[in-house]
Amino acid sequence: MTGIVTFDGAPPEGTINLGIGQPSPDLLPVDLVAKASQSFFDNAQPLELNYGVTEGDERFLYSLAAFLTEGYSSEVTFDQLFVTGGNSQALDLMSVVFANAGDTVFVEEPSYFLAFQIFHDHGLNIVGIPIDDDGLCVDALQQELKSHDPAFLYTIPSYQNPGGQCTTEARRRRIVELAEAHDFLIVADEVYQLLYFYDAPPPAYGTMAASGRVLSLGSFSKILAPGMRLGWIQTNEDLRSKIIANGFVNSGGSINHISSHIVRQTIDNGTLDSHITHLRNVYRRRVAAMDEALHEHFDSIAKWTRPDGGYFFWMRFDESVDTTPLREKARELQTGFQAGAVFSSKGQLSHYLRLSFAHYNEDDIREGIARMRPLF
Ligand SMILES: Cc1ncc(COP(=O)(O)O)c(C=O)c1O
Repeated sequence: MTGIVTFDGAPPEGTINLGIGQPSPDLLPVDLVAKASQSFFDNAQPLELNYGVTEGDERFLYSLAAFLTEGYSSEVTFDQLFVTGGNSQALDLMSVVFANAGDTVFVEEPSYFLAFQIFHDHGLNIVGIPIDDDGLCVDALQQELKSHDPAFLYTIPSYQNPGGQCTTEARRRRIVELAEAHDFLIVADEVYQLLYFYDAPPPAYGTMAASGRVLSLGSFSKILAPGMRLGWIQTNEDLRSKIIANGFVNSGGSINHISSHIVRQTIDNGTLDSHITHLRNVYRRRVAAMDEALHEHFDSIAKWTRPDGGYFFWMRFDESVDTTPLREKARELQTGFQAGAVFSSKGQLSHYLRLSFAHYNEDDIREGIARMRPLF
C-alpha cells in the first residue's frame, strides 16, 4: 500500500478503501505510454499539434478499427468511429445530441451512479429498469415502454457497474428489436467489454451498430489509463453525422487529438494488447482473492456472484441492513466500500454494497475485507 492517489485525493494513510473503482498504480503503464509518446513525437509534423479532424484522425481511426475488429471478433470499420474524451464525456455528448431537457432516459437498476449526475445536469428524467443475473430484464423494459417514450436506454451490458453481470446475447438482440419497434436509441457503455478474465462476453452492442439504434461507447480508461482521457463511439453513418454536427465538437475539432496519436502507437506496436493480457492475469488473481476472503468472512450473512470481468463485486445483505451509515464506521476501521443506495435511481438498494478489486493487490484485498467483517 504505497503512495496511492485517486482523483478524489489519497485515502488516509493505512486505509484500504475497496470502494475505489480505479486501477492500482502498478497497473498504470508509465513506460509503455512514455515510449509511445516518444515514438510519436520523434516523427511528428507541426500539423499534428493543430486541432485535429473532428471525428478523429484517420490514422487513429484505422488503428482503432483494427484493434476492435480483433477484440470483438467482428468487423469494425473506421467510418463507424468517433473519438471521445472517454465514456463520461461521451455520455455528456449523448445527453446533448440525442435528448432534450425534460426527456426520459431509461437506466438499469442498479447503474453507474455518476451517469445519473450527467443525465440530471441536462434535465433528463431517469427511469430505472431492473436487471437480473442475465442482465437487463426485457419484460420490465417492455412494460415501461407502455408508459414512457425514452430518448435512449443507457445500459452497461458487460460486467455491469455495479452488478458485475453480462446481458445475454439473446436479450441484447431483443433489446435492439425493441429499440427499432419503439424508436429509441441504445447508449451502450461498453467500458468493460474487453476486460474479461476467462471467455469473452456476449458480442458488444457495437457489432449491432448497423441497426441505426446503437451508440456503443468505448474507453481506454480500463484497458490502458484513465488519464489518457480517450475513448470512442461506434455507430452508423447517420448517428455519427449528428454527433459531428454538435457545436462543441465543431468548435474544438478532435476531442483528444494528441492522446489518440499516442494510443495509436500502442495499438500498432502491440504493447496495448500485451498490457491488456497482463491486466486480465492480474485481475483474475485479485477476483479469486476477493472471492476467497468473502467466503471466509461473509458466507453466512451476504450473497454475491463472482464476476468474470470488469472491476466489481456486488454484495447483497439482509433487507434490515443499511450500508450507507456503515461507511463512516468503515473509515474508522480503515477500510471502505461504496454503499448500494447510490447506484439506485429509485432511492432503494440500501442493503447492497459494491467492492472493487482494481485498486489493491491481493494481500490488501484480503486485509480490507477482514476489516469490514465487524461492521455487520
Ligand atoms: C460504467 C462506467 N462508465 C464510465 C466510466 C468512466 O469512463 P471514462 O473514464 O471513460 O470516462 C466508468 C468508470 O468507472 C464506468 O464504470
